[in-house]
Amino acid sequence: MTDTRPIGVFDSGIGGLTVLKAIHQRAPEETLIYLGDTARVPYGSKSKETVLRYSRNNVKFLREMGVKMVVIACNTASAYALPELVAENTIPIIGVVEGGVEAAVTHTKGVIGVIGTEATVNSGAYSKAIKARRPEARVISVACPMFVPLVEEGWTHGDISTAIVRAYLDRYKGQVDTLVLGCTHYPLLKEPIARALGPSIALIDSAEQTALKVKETLDKLGASALAGTRGGLRFMVTDSPARSKQVGERMLGGLSMGEVELVDI
Ligand code: DGL
Repeated sequence: MTDTRPIGVFDSGIGGLTVLKAIHQRAPEETLIYLGDTARVPYGSKSKETVLRYSRNNVKFLREMGVKMVVIACNTASAYALPELVAENTIPIIGVVEGGVEAAVTHTKGVIGVIGTEATVNSGAYSKAIKARRPEARVISVACPMFVPLVEEGWTHGDISTAIVRAYLDRYKGQVDTLVLGCTHYPLLKEPIARALGPSIALIDSAEQTALKVKETLDKLGASALAGTRGGLRFMVTDSPARSKQVGERMLGGLSMGEVELVDI
């Protein structure tokens, strides 16, 4: 059985494109509709109630577009809204926390670091999920609010990013063996992060794990598109399509976004 309906992917902004890219690489036959809520970004400094309300809007919009599944490509929205969204919807809803946690507990020798937005860290979603799988693991969670604007500005390499990354993470050098990059933007800072924490640190990027989970879920449901075909990509944002395209294409590293549509949700 095949299902050619699109998969909806949403994020608070354009950071979730790192997740879209991983899904596209793993399942090129799937058509993906990306929704970036750029009018209301950032979610990472907002309350659970607000993030849940915005996330519900995003899912409703994507469902009206006829998607067969929704991927919450935002750590903050996954941390705050996943259980409610799963309970309220009949189509599969996949977040990014689980994938990162699964990889982290496989890698760790004992102490896992989790970095994310203030909301993600305050939600405790990562530490709870890690403890549920590995009760003996130690988890150190650190909010790094300056990382998102840094990436949005394109400052992912060089002196400024090195200094800011070190200001947040230097004190954890040698203390954690595995670090979960618990925010859509952070994979772009892998290089300065690895330099700050030393070469033996295992960096967990949940995009790849999430893409695997998407594929597995579709296969299990018999809802994948026809293998060997090529699905389309469609990009929508709630504000600033030109800026979203400029920053987004940098994030996608070589993948063109074509026309970025402005939508009112
Ligand atoms: N997408 C958000 C996340 O992964 C980062 C940007 C924001 O704060 O909205 O947590």
